[in-house]
Amino acid sequence: MPATVVVGLQWGDEGKAKILDELAGASDIVVRFQGGSNAGHTVVVDGEKYKFHLVPCGVARAGKMNVVGNGVALDPVGLLEEITHFESRGLSVRDRLLISDRAHLVLGHHKKLEALAEKALGDKAIGTTMRGIGPCYTDKIARSGVRMGDMLRPAHFKERLATRLEAVNAVVEKVYGEQPLTLDEVAGPAFEAFEQLKPMVTDTVTYLNDAMDADKAILFEGAQATLLDIDFGTYPFVTSSNASALGVAAGAGVAPWRIGRIVGLLKAYTTRVGAGPYPTEALDETGERLRERGAEYGTTTGRPRRCGWFDAVAARYATRLNGITETAISKLDILTGEETVKIATSYAYPDGSTSDRFPACLQELAEARPVYEEMDGWSEDISGARSAADLPAAARRYVERVSELVGAEPGFVSVGEGRGATIRWS
Ligand code: GDP
Ligand code: IMO
Ligand code: MG
Repeated sequence: MPATVVVGLQWGDEGKAKILDELAGASDIVVRFQGGSNAGHTVVVDGEKYKFHLVPCGVARAGKMNVVGNGVALDPVGLLEEITHFESRGLSVRDRLLISDRAHLVLGHHKKLEALAEKALGDKAIGTTMRGIGPCYTDKIARSGVRMGDMLRPAHFKERLATRLEAVNAVVEKVYGEQPLTLDEVAGPAFEAFEQLKPMVTDTVTYLNDAMDADKAILFEGAQATLLDIDFGTYPFVTSSNASALGVAAGAGVAPWRIGRIVGLLKAYTTRVGAGPYPTEALDETGERLRERGAEYGTTTGRPRRCGWFDAVAARYATRLNGITETAISKLDILTGEETVKIATSYAYPDGSTSDRFPACLQELAEARPVYEEMDGWSEDISGARSAADLPAAARRYVERVSELVGAEPGFVSVGEGRGATIRWS
């Protein structure tokens, strides 16, 4: 059975978890393949809100298995806290969670280095979530990281970590003039958490390939989104992993041909947390209105999200790149009450030219001014709509126009945060 992937097509927080939760009902295993606890994925079941960071959101569905794959930047202390939190709320986790022995660990020195680097950048800071993600992936690529499986051999683990800390401390002391980190303060909390995580640590690559050979339904849970992808996003204002569907194979240890369905999440407007160019950002009362109505505050950091109209230039780029087989358009209900709704269909540049191409160059993107198409809005409450026919004509037209512009058919349209507040479009 071909696997399904869910990824964001904007700058994150598109409502991936809401749709993942709907799709998890018909899946056997939910798999995270990249990112770490920078993610904040919200599932609302019967009014109960669950916020997932590292634990896959399949945990919200009874009986489903969940995997934290090799491509994840894994904070062992944060993961244990999250498991304990969900268990205190009555969800079983330990018997349904497997953790890759190849996942790289986020440790104290990663968070320390990130805090120092972001501070040093001043007004040029990325505005990261401070979860140690960038420095963890830096160590991975530099071949100086430590992995979950290394903790099974404490002496080996400590030797590798001690070598890395020597170099880290040289920077901490000589560049930033701060106190060095000790091996005990970095390794201690990780080993304490590992005592409880150990039974879940396994070779998830073999587990997943066996499951696919046995025709199990696999759902890959993307975190962050395509415009935050390290290769294809708005570099350097991105996260440090391949957050598009292109990251699935390497992040989970599965062949690309295993994937058949790629669902791309599009919020009906746009939001962004952190710094970086954002052509349709509305710095006026429109942005305020979308933020308040859409409750656009970060799930992980609580920061207010930057808000603006839908950007079809960026969304079309992301849709093609991922090979999206169907989209899910979320938070359509939040646009209710807007007299008119706008969609950016091209960018205008200071030299008078226009283009519908999403530029690689950050400076070019910063200069791009959105050219808008304006459509009639609607005022009817659409949160109870369960089919396309239940929507006012203007809302239906909006979905159709967005789909035409991005070049993919909608599979789902979401009209509320709760499980079931979803229209199956096709
Ligand atoms: P994710 O990171 O992509 O999973 O998205 P987040 O959970 O960070 O942010 C999306 C927010 O919007 C969450 O609070 C969801 O509960 C909420 N949400 C998702 N879909 C809808 C929708 O269709 N309508 C409304 N009103 N809220 C939604
Ligand atoms: P979900 O999965 C929105 C942003 C940060 C920052 C940049 C780099 O909930 O959609 P990082 O901590 O990853 O090094 O920060 O990426 N960012 C997100 N923005 N949603 C997320 O996750 C994000 N994860 C990281 O705000 O701009
Ligand atoms: Mg989120």
